Amino acid sequence: MHGAARSTEPDRPLQIGTERTCECPPRHLNCLSAKEWLKAQIGVWQFYYEGRDIRDKEQHPATYPIALASRCIELFTHRGELVLDPFVGSGTTLVSARDLQRNAVGFDLQPDYVALATTRLDQCEPDDACQQVAVCADARDIPAYLPEESVSLILTSPPYANLLNRKRLNKSRRGNQRRNTQYHKVEQYSQDPRDLGTLALDEYAEQMAGIFGRLLPLLRPKAHCVVNVPDMWWEDRRITIHISLVEALRSVGYELRNIIIWDRTNIVNRIGIFGWPSNYITMGVTFEYLLDFWKPPEPG
Ligand SMILES: C[S@@+](CC[C@H](N)C(=O)[O-])C[C@H]1O[C@@H](n2cnc3c(N)ncnc32)[C@H](O)[C@@H]1O
Repeated sequence: MHGAARSTEPDRPLQIGTERTCECPPRHLNCLSAKEWLKAQIGVWQFYYEGRDIRDKEQHPATYPIALASRCIELFTHRGELVLDPFVGSGTTLVSARDLQRNAVGFDLQPDYVALATTRLDQCEPDDACQQVAVCADARDIPAYLPEESVSLILTSPPYANLLNRKRLNKSRRGNQRRNTQYHKVEQYSQDPRDLGTLALDEYAEQMAGIFGRLLPLLRPKAHCVVNVPDMWWEDRRITIHISLVEALRSVGYELRNIIIWDRTNIVNRIGIFGWPSNYITMGVTFEYLLDFWKPPEPG
């Protein structure tokens, strides 16, 4: 089934393309020209949302822009190759893969998010060259769906441990903006015990190591794995989710290559005077990390 999204129970393993359809020389990392490559060389990235992006927190509380997914997919894959998003949410990675003629599969625990991803794909321009699939399944079960060394890029934004699993206080917002429609809402995806967003940081890191450890054999050697996470504040302490994830993924064989900062200052709402005058705290919403790992090549 080409150029379409499926949310029903798919075959295992999935029937999906994995091979390049471009004419690039074999050693090239991507289809970019030298000039296009140069644009991605700076380690701080900014993006704008577009009309197709999901910004309504009622639909999904934590999406990234299509432009972010596109930058990563263009940088780390060739046309026709397979992208995997183990925590696909509203399907942003899949929409970008459709735009860029990459095959892609995304997994999410929540049927509503899988349906949202499927609807978004249905609203895209049809393209028979590649397939993008949203599957409702636990990320722990992904190895049953994909053959070893079939994936050219893992790109994802996982849950942030249990840090969204609490009532929002909107401390970073000023005055009247604080009591907006999100105030005192719990913007967590679900209370399903399999949901990584219900776990305290240590248990979360352990589970993430297990999940990403099982995904490593699916990656081609030297294929990249890009994980988007912020740090967060919890009872006046910085929760360094990015450090926990770097340690977790290293412990199961990934090598950290780059840390890119996603500078969000151009898209955040008006910021409050957080901590003034006695407690200097950088606001978590002003930037996030893009942790770029790869599967190390076989020695020798
Ligand atoms: C930060 S969101 C991803 C958002 C996505 N990047 C987007 O732009 O829409 C993380 C997602 O992980 C999903 N999730 C949590 N635990 C999961 C699990 N064990 N297996 C698969 N998905 C899970 C949640 O339902 C949520 O949609």
